[in-house]
Amino acid sequence: MYDIYIKKIGPAEFERLQNISKQTFTETFAGDNSSEDMTEYLSRAFSTDKLRIEADNPGSEFYFGLIDNIVAGYLKINTGEAQTEQLDTNALEVERIYVLKEFQGKRTGQILLDKAIQIARQKKVTCIWLGVWEKNEKAIKFYRKNGFIEFDKHIFVLGSDRQTDILMKLELNQ
Ligand SMILES: CC(C)(COP(=O)(O)OP(=O)(O)OC[C@H]1O[C@@H](n2cnc3c(N)ncnc32)[C@H](O)[C@@H]1OP(=O)(O)O)[C@@H](O)C(=O)NCCC(=O)NCCS
Repeated sequence: MYDIYIKKIGPAEFERLQNISKQTFTETFAGDNSSEDMTEYLSRAFSTDKLRIEADNPGSEFYFGLIDNIVAGYLKINTGEAQTEQLDTNALEVERIYVLKEFQGKRTGQILLDKAIQIARQKKVTCIWLGVWEKNEKAIKFYRKNGFIEFDKHIFVLGSDRQTDILMKLELNQ
């Protein structure tokens, strides 16, 4: 068994957050997208300025999932106005949940998602929602397994490519 635990990310770990954000996004999507689109997206979405603004937003929280003290994955959640879409003010968005390839399948993702659900219950929101690329079958299966259901779609722009994200939600019975 692995010793997996969750740690809230503070300013001192900012560089580690930026590194794992870029690495996990590349591992997940580089195979299905052009290198131009990937480069453009990585430099814009995970720039130091952008991540600092996100980290300073009081409605956003970042967590690392650590296996034996090594950063294996991370979670970003948003509530209130920090949500990327204002579908419901009393909801929690899982904006990012990513585990490094070499650590996948060891329950880090599950523990990170459980953390998001625990926070959602503490905050007494009515549902958790997220957007996932329609071609990301692995993640869709993971969310379905955790009770999420599809409820809408939206367009996500990666570089010059307009892609369809499926919106999924988990209703919480308080
Ligand atoms: C999706 C992701 C977060 C899951 O994290 P993980 O650490 O690999 O998953 P876990 O080991 O915690 O698995 C949790 C459970 O989901 C199941 N599961 C994981 N991936 C699955 C899949 N592809 N199909 C079916 N079940 C799956 C596991 O079997 C496990 O079930 P169990 O509790 O009965 O054993 C991870 O694979 C990942 O980071 N993928 C790439 C990034 C990504 O796509 N993020 C989502 C963007 S929207």
